[in-house]
Amino acid sequence: MEDDSYPPPLKVGIAYNLKKGVRADAEDAEAEYDSFGTIRAIRAALEGAGCSVALLEADAGFVERLKSAGVDIVFNIAEGANGRGREAQVPAILSFLGIPFTGSDETTLALALDKAMTKRYLSAYGVRTPAYRLADSPAAKLRLRFPVIVKPDCEGSGKGIGDLATAEDGDHLRAALERNLRLYGAPMLVEEFVPGREFTVGLLGNGKELAVFEPMEIRYRHGDPERGVYSYRVKTNWKEYVEYRCPADLPPQTSQALKRTAALIFRALGCRDFARIDFRLSRGGVPYFIEINPLPGLAPGYSDYPMLAGFCGVGYDALILSILRCALRRYGLVPAGRRQAVLR
Ligand SMILES: Nc1ncnc2c1ncn2[C@@H]1O[C@H](COP(=O)(O)OP(=O)(O)O)[C@@H](O)[C@H]1O
Ligand SMILES: [Mg+2]
Repeated sequence: MEDDSYPPPLKVGIAYNLKKGVRADAEDAEAEYDSFGTIRAIRAALEGAGCSVALLEADAGFVERLKSAGVDIVFNIAEGANGRGREAQVPAILSFLGIPFTGSDETTLALALDKAMTKRYLSAYGVRTPAYRLADSPAAKLRLRFPVIVKPDCEGSGKGIGDLATAEDGDHLRAALERNLRLYGAPMLVEEFVPGREFTVGLLGNGKELAVFEPMEIRYRHGDPERGVYSYRVKTNWKEYVEYRCPADLPPQTSQALKRTAALIFRALGCRDFARIDFRLSRGGVPYFIEINPLPGLAPGYSDYPMLAGFCGVGYDALILSILRCALRRYGLVPAGRRQAVLR
């Protein structure tokens, strides 16, 4: 009799990078790294299902630690060390050593961390995305319509998206570019700002069993909600600045369009197991792709992905185990078959 309610007893390594509390020029320097609370929550979910867990911090000793741990599979949330391909580093090591791991592979992660490259790639699939230019100097001539938003091309977690990220004119844009290039380095992505409601869409699964969660709306409490920016400050103080609505109040055809576009993007980029995709819905009701997170944050009570899953009836532990089960199935380590029972 098939029992897929829990994965079989397995040795699972968790690969991660921790916040270190190192002082830096920018307050958001460690925004993408995880706190130990997240690692503990993932470990508890895995151990609760009978797995044994090895903690594999992805620092300079990672390869040795990994080899001596003898794990069956790695639950990967590591952000990597340096450079724009950093999220691909741990998956590349795991692929090189032939060790199975959860989530997308190195090629998808390297591409998706570069927002401009991803936009260019997805435009070949007809995905609508705001007009943009890359800037490596504050004096760059960009020929975009104001307002624009300035963001580091290869960051996430609201990093480099401060209160002055949107610019209404050339002077403001130069000031934003000057600041951001100094703090985060080139290139900066400058995009036409799309005013409208904001949504993020979570996905879970693979192939025919890919499930798309209901879009979660991010509603700004202060000012014009159609001009709000999900900045680092807003993300870290979300209770004060935003309200999440999931399922969002949307006509069924609009929520279907968001979900369909999200699934198309997931497949086009060869994503695996899970991802989260950000959209802005123009005032005319057209979904604009903003960015994809094939390695979305999993901090309980904070990150959007577990939050939207929770709204859709999938609790934290069930979500972690579903991601693991998706990966195990891909590698043929548990039988494929029944649909993701956790998704209603
Ligand atoms: N072109 C745009 N038009 C409107 N809002 C945008 C645009 N680009 C980014 N934003 C706002 O900035 C936020 C952060 O941008 P995003 O590209 O998702 O960066 P991050 O990787 O830090 O989440 C978005 O959630 C959205 O609120
Ligand atoms: Mg985002």
